[in-house]
Amino acid sequence: MLIENYKSAYLASLEAAERIATQISNAQEKNENFVLGLATGSTPINLYQELVRMHKREGLSFQNVHTFNLDEYCGLRKTHMESYYYFMYEHLFSHIDIPTKNIRIPNGMLQENDVHNYCLDYEFQISELGGIDLQILGIGSNGHIGFNEPNCDVESITRKTELSQSTRNDATPSFGRLSCVPTQAITMGMQTILNAKEIYFLAFGEAKKDIVETALTKEISIEVPASFLQTHNKCTAFLDQYTCIKN
Ligand code: GLP
Repeated sequence: MLIENYKSAYLASLEAAERIATQISNAQEKNENFVLGLATGSTPINLYQELVRMHKREGLSFQNVHTFNLDEYCGLRKTHMESYYYFMYEHLFSHIDIPTKNIRIPNGMLQENDVHNYCLDYEFQISELGGIDLQILGIGSNGHIGFNEPNCDVESITRKTELSQSTRNDATPSFGRLSCVPTQAITMGMQTILNAKEIYFLAFGEAKKDIVETALTKEISIEVPASFLQTHNKCTAFLDQYTCIKN
């Protein structure tokens, strides 16, 4: 795990975006696809904004990019402002030239009978494209990644899962009240995430300071799913002035 401390979340986001753009362009020059795993939440917003800026001002093209989002709430329509589908179009997809067919966001509106095959197909699509080249990742306040909550299965793949009480509490301000927060989500699994060839882990702000320190410097435990990032052979942590970890 490579730990990189930045003076601010903004500067960390610019650097991550710059490196992603370089990887996309390098793949383009070789006529190759670039498979990007995407996260939602407030953390990657500046990164997406910078990618949009580079597309508009510097001609960065996303024609060769395929994306897979980490997760989606169950029971929210695409038009719901808290759905991750809505989030991704608002912050990234509406502003870049990625072909619509290259965008994959888990469908949270499936019939129960369809969930199993849908999740297997999500995994299949990832492997058919040769795996995720780069996964962007944030962290929940309880240490979750995607919606892989504490004490989930380390071997898990894409599936439907229950949200923990603390995750639902964290989401309450955005939804207005707790009863409006979904109780389930479709999420890539721990294995899906850890199988990515490279991971950019972004964690910013005072509220994340303790959980980031626990995840990145303490023992690896499924009570803190993000601690498994320590086992990945190409994971870079982009930290800010609050979450920074001194060597
Ligand atoms: C949600 C998402 C995670 C994200 C987390 C943190 O739980 N499923 O992928 O990392 O929120 O969000 P934020 O960046 O807003 O702190």
